[in-house]
Amino acid sequence: MEGQSFQAGFLWGASTAAYQIEGAVHAEGRGACVWDTFTAQGRIMDGTNAFVACDHYHRWREDIALMKTAGFNTYRFSIAWPRIFPTGSGTVNERGLGFYERLIDALLAEGITPMPCLFHWDLPQPLEDAGGWQGREIIAPFAAYAQAVVRRLGDRVKHWMMLNEPNVVAIFGYGVGEHAPGHTLGEQGILRALHHQNLAQGAALRAIDSERSDLTLGTVLNLQPCRAESDKPGDLAAAARWDAVWNRVTLDGLLRGQIPALLEDKMDEFVLPGDRAAIQGPIDLLGINYYSRMTMKEEAGRPFNVGWGDAGCDRWTFMAWPVQPDGLYDLLISLKADYGNPAVFIAENGAAYDDQVDEDGAVHDDDRVAFLRDHLASVARAAADGCQVKGYLCWSLLDNFEWAYGLSKRFGIVRVDYDTLKRTPKDSYRYFADVIRTGRL
Ligand code: FCB
Repeated sequence: MEGQSFQAGFLWGASTAAYQIEGAVHAEGRGACVWDTFTAQGRIMDGTNAFVACDHYHRWREDIALMKTAGFNTYRFSIAWPRIFPTGSGTVNERGLGFYERLIDALLAEGITPMPCLFHWDLPQPLEDAGGWQGREIIAPFAAYAQAVVRRLGDRVKHWMMLNEPNVVAIFGYGVGEHAPGHTLGEQGILRALHHQNLAQGAALRAIDSERSDLTLGTVLNLQPCRAESDKPGDLAAAARWDAVWNRVTLDGLLRGQIPALLEDKMDEFVLPGDRAAIQGPIDLLGINYYSRMTMKEEAGRPFNVGWGDAGCDRWTFMAWPVQPDGLYDLLISLKADYGNPAVFIAENGAAYDDQVDEDGAVHDDDRVAFLRDHLASVARAAADGCQVKGYLCWSLLDNFEWAYGLSKRFGIVRVDYDTLKRTPKDSYRYFADVIRTGRL
């Protein structure tokens, strides 16, 4: 069926993030990050932490074997900034860099393209203490970190992603306090954190480009088509405001060098002359994380006077996120129509379900199989309709530490038993491997 739409060279694999899988938070000179602090403050819902997580730091060979068996040709992971610069800047911690060097060499030996992401939320604590993403002081250390790792690994690693989901960092980390570093700074805090990530990303792209010119550079945005809960003017305006905050500050900055008109007044306070040029790419490849649409309504007392509306959906994941595969198709088509059809890939897509281990020890996760199939069908349809979709990486290879939810939400196509750390491929793993092998859904 639609399988034929996945062109030769399509990137197939999974994404992970350092903090969510590595554990070993004190190993080999790693410094503290904001998520270590946040968990130590007891802010994780199930009371767990990521100090061991999947112990990937010691079990990475086994994890690469799982990728190889599934037929992956690509693996997106993140480099932990506090492993490379334990205090955020200064001298490279060779032991931390060595870990990624070994991982990368092993991936390459298996024919798997490594795609590191430079910042998946584990901000070194000293940089947060100096203001974190609220100030411009963070721009130079991020660019220096990017340049340092590319100087060392750029001979072998050709695909680099800068940030992961700056909107989530800004809103949940600085706006409403549900993620590390846990600030409740409201609208201005959110917009500042967004703008400074945009600037840091631009600076990193330029620093890397000055180092080598043979790389494919990009970043990863969480994009969710926003719609209003009703046709009431208040709800329609709320959905447009949220679209500007959630999707367009990053997208318009990166691809157009613009600040969304709806937010210009609020952002004038800290957007300086020259910033618009500095936040514009150029990038070669845009990573998209897609989980669902967003249905919004007017709600006083919340940032931007926007609240979560009723999604009117009859399929839900264990995160209580609606299952809306058609939203992925619409998103890809809108990027083609409104942003000049950039080269994109799905950098994350997947679902948490309340997996049960059967008597035979297997996990028959039919709901996750259906989720993957339906979203892959949307990708195939968008590609058939002319979108430049270059790949699909599921979230995630392993069950892992799901941020504020701790270990209670399982997104893996491979189960992790957190007592024994044993890995067990689920039915979804076999399904995904079949799709990769046959190109059929
Ligand atoms: C995304 C994050 C990723 C993971 C998934 C479920 O927002 O990028 O780390 O937590 O959600």
